[in-house]
Amino acid sequence: MSIRTLDDLLAEGVSGRRVLVRADLNVPLDKQSGDITDDGRIRAVLPTLSALTGAGAKVVVCSHLGRPKGAPDPQFSLRPVAGRLGELLGAPVHFATDTVGESARSTVDALADGEVALLENLRFNSGETSKDDAERGAFADQLAAFGDAYVDDAFGAVHRKHASVHDVPARLPHVAGRLVLREVEVLSRLTGEPQRPYVVVLGGSKVSDKLAVIEALLPTVDRLLIGGGMCFTFLKAQGHEVGSSLLEEEMVETCRNLLERSEGKIMLPVDVVAADAFAPDAAHDTVPADGIPSKRVGLDIGPETVAGFAAALKGARTIFWNGPMGVFEMPAFAHGTRGIAETIAKTDAFTVVGGGDSAAAVRALGLDESSFGHISTGGGASLEYLEGKTLPGIAALEN
Ligand code: 3PG
Ligand code: MG
Repeated sequence: MSIRTLDDLLAEGVSGRRVLVRADLNVPLDKQSGDITDDGRIRAVLPTLSALTGAGAKVVVCSHLGRPKGAPDPQFSLRPVAGRLGELLGAPVHFATDTVGESARSTVDALADGEVALLENLRFNSGETSKDDAERGAFADQLAAFGDAYVDDAFGAVHRKHASVHDVPARLPHVAGRLVLREVEVLSRLTGEPQRPYVVVLGGSKVSDKLAVIEALLPTVDRLLIGGGMCFTFLKAQGHEVGSSLLEEEMVETCRNLLERSEGKIMLPVDVVAADAFAPDAAHDTVPADGIPSKRVGLDIGPETVAGFAAALKGARTIFWNGPMGVFEMPAFAHGTRGIAETIAKTDAFTVVGGGDSAAAVRALGLDESSFGHISTGGGASLEYLEGKTLPGIAALEN
């Protein structure tokens, strides 16, 4: 694999050149106020942007936000992100109110050396996510016209075969940004020869989302700890009733099969916090995993499970964690996620937190980010990397 890097581009000199940077600025927004609730992904791209502005490039940043349907939709505007990015960079960010139209053209044309522009949401254009090569290509042509070189620093989106990720690099000299490089370096330590014991903690709501990664990891890991909403389908596969907890009926057989093949590597909860309703103030008790009352819904792993998982984590040399253990957004059901996160933070292991919700949980629970080896900005991307899949955005950077 030979990928040129930002340093290669800087060595060529970028002063006065327009550099198109694909970032993943898909940050969570508060539904009521529209405020950015976690700016981790914006901060993660600063090293690349600062290096480029410092070297005198005209920096044109593009990103998606949310999943608009190929047309402008104000609730998914990147405008608030432009404001926050400017604050963090300590310099104004010029915002284009379209992606490849009149506003984008005049904004890019007006850029002085060392300045930054942000284009409006890529997914306001149907070409970005189109399955049709020609339609994607036509949009990529328009985007590529804004750069003399292309930097991919959107690790969270490298698993998408989208115009800005997959087709633009075919049209411009292209390099990997600092974030993409670091993510790949770290994750390749997990797929290579991880130091043992190697323990993986998986949570989140759906087994079906994690099935491929479970299949890929089972032969490699020493222990696989399963919590979160997906644990109930496994508990059902063990023969337990799960009340009205989240259940993927059609996955029960698959889970039974995985348990049989796992050689005892899979650890499941022995107790859960079961509530009257899916609500922050619902009445709740800790119950044994084989005794969930029929009308109750499991919303977190219980303290005995946290202790058991913690014991498995304490001796680990390598840990990968993806997915919350419970509904951590509700304080009553955050203890499991907090307990696991705090345990992981305290180990001497090489620790990687995989993206999306788990990274947001670390920050929302007020844990010190620096006590983790690496917090990935990619949820789906980090899982697909660990599955050993070819990632369209990475493949496009390879020469
Ligand atoms: C993410 O949040 O997982 C990335 O930004 C990719 O977004 P997507 O799942 O909507 O493609
Ligand atoms: Mg996603």
